Amino acid sequence: MQRHFLTGAELDQATLAALLARARELKASPLGSDSLTRRVIALIFDQPSTRTRVSFEVGIVELGGHPMVTRSDELQLSRGESVRDTAYVLSRHVAAICIRTGADEAVRELARHATVPVINMLTAGHHPCQALADLLTLQEEFGRLAGLTVAYVGDGNNVARSLAILGGLAGMEVRIASPARHRLLDPPEAAVLMEDPRAAASGADAVYTDVWLSMSDDPRSAQQRRSAFLPYRLDEHLLEVAAPHAIALHCLPAHPGEEITAEVLYGSRQRIWVQAENRRHVQKALLEQLVG
Ligand code: CP
Repeated sequence: MQRHFLTGAELDQATLAALLARARELKASPLGSDSLTRRVIALIFDQPSTRTRVSFEVGIVELGGHPMVTRSDELQLSRGESVRDTAYVLSRHVAAICIRTGADEAVRELARHATVPVINMLTAGHHPCQALADLLTLQEEFGRLAGLTVAYVGDGNNVARSLAILGGLAGMEVRIASPARHRLLDPPEAAVLMEDPRAAASGADAVYTDVWLSMSDDPRSAQQRRSAFLPYRLDEHLLEVAAPHAIALHCLPAHPGEEITAEVLYGSRQRIWVQAENRRHVQKALLEQLVG
């Protein structure tokens, strides 16, 4: 059966640990592997991206491969060709298909019909590559993952769900504090849902947030969301109730002054920029595991 990476739930504990260990090796020696020599990886973007595009593209080149970047409006998908037929054709040319799109079902459909691995580069429901980078960042900081507590404060979105799936697999407690109207739907078993952001952050090893309006959200809800999420802002006061050694995380892009203050985003407790770099290292390890 073809192996894919759609939600992170495809991994078991041992595979996740091996992937993170390999990511640390690749980070220490970024040009130390030619595992994708002359292999072509399709990167399909239906939505904008900075980190995902750059980290996949550079990472594939570092592994000796060729990233074939396309926007879906450049493919016949935009003119009604089916996901199934696209999967059949791409599978005959490329070694893996990575896709960023809105609907989770489109990615599942792609994976059902592709004969090469499919990697989810973000859907409305999941952002598993981001969660891998989050775990690597936490492991680098604390030397372990099992037993850590991470408090995610804000929108119960794709980032929160993936963090809970992979954090739970790694033995972490993942608390997700959101306003009732924006709580995580269909939460993974490991997610501890809360409403009070201070209760969630209390004693936590890391406090994590994301934007208040994601790409899949209706822009008309921006004002309502701003009001609802105001008490969930990641600021110095919230970090004060976390553990004294607690770090601040954000998957980016950030809106300083909204979900995070500039003091935290650029302050001494953030590990946000290394978190962004770690996307490349974990994705290289993932590509090696699935393709190399
Ligand atoms: N965190 C993340 O996925 O960033 P981009 O949207 O810039 O890829």
